[in-house]
Amino acid sequence: MTATSTLSLAQVRDELLALPQPFQRGAVQDVVERLEPAPGELALYLNFSASGYTRTQFYHGPLYEILVLCWRAGQASPIHDHAASICSMAVVHGTCSSEVFHLKGYGQGEGPQAGETAKLEPAGSASCGAGQVVTVEGRDIHRISNRDESGEDLVTVHFYLPPILTIRCFDQETGLCQVTEPETLMPRL
Ligand SMILES: [Fe+2]
Repeated sequence: MTATSTLSLAQVRDELLALPQPFQRGAVQDVVERLEPAPGELALYLNFSASGYTRTQFYHGPLYEILVLCWRAGQASPIHDHAASICSMAVVHGTCSSEVFHLKGYGQGEGPQAGETAKLEPAGSASCGAGQVVTVEGRDIHRISNRDESGEDLVTVHFYLPPILTIRCFDQETGLCQVTEPETLMPRL
């Protein structure tokens, strides 16, 4: 096996365990970029809903968790940060839109508490297709969505190191910050 060979999702899960601690953003991204799910490997984790995107647990351990996210066209996440975790996200089907925001008046790693408001400033956007990986960390703020105009579904696999319990979400209009616990579905085993 070469350093650039592809890995199934189960192999990525195991490969992450071999990384030195604490996890480094670049090293995590290097492993996740090798992801090529085995045929049928995601079948039990694909949950599409008309009422919004879904998050289904593939793996949960003390050091990290892996979730499969399913998005119908037009569905979007809230604007959110990533607590104290690294989040590496791989697109496995469809096209993913990512919008980045900054908090005006706050320094790196700072931000409002729940119930406070902050001014959000758009700081760029990007579109990613199958095989591409986006990695963010900690207080990085973004919104992920499926804006595909042809109606194509989007499937992304998210690696959170360590697992995320709560995230801060921001209302785009008011800037109101709220702390939420994202809903996680279990696979249809
Ligand atoms: Fe995120």
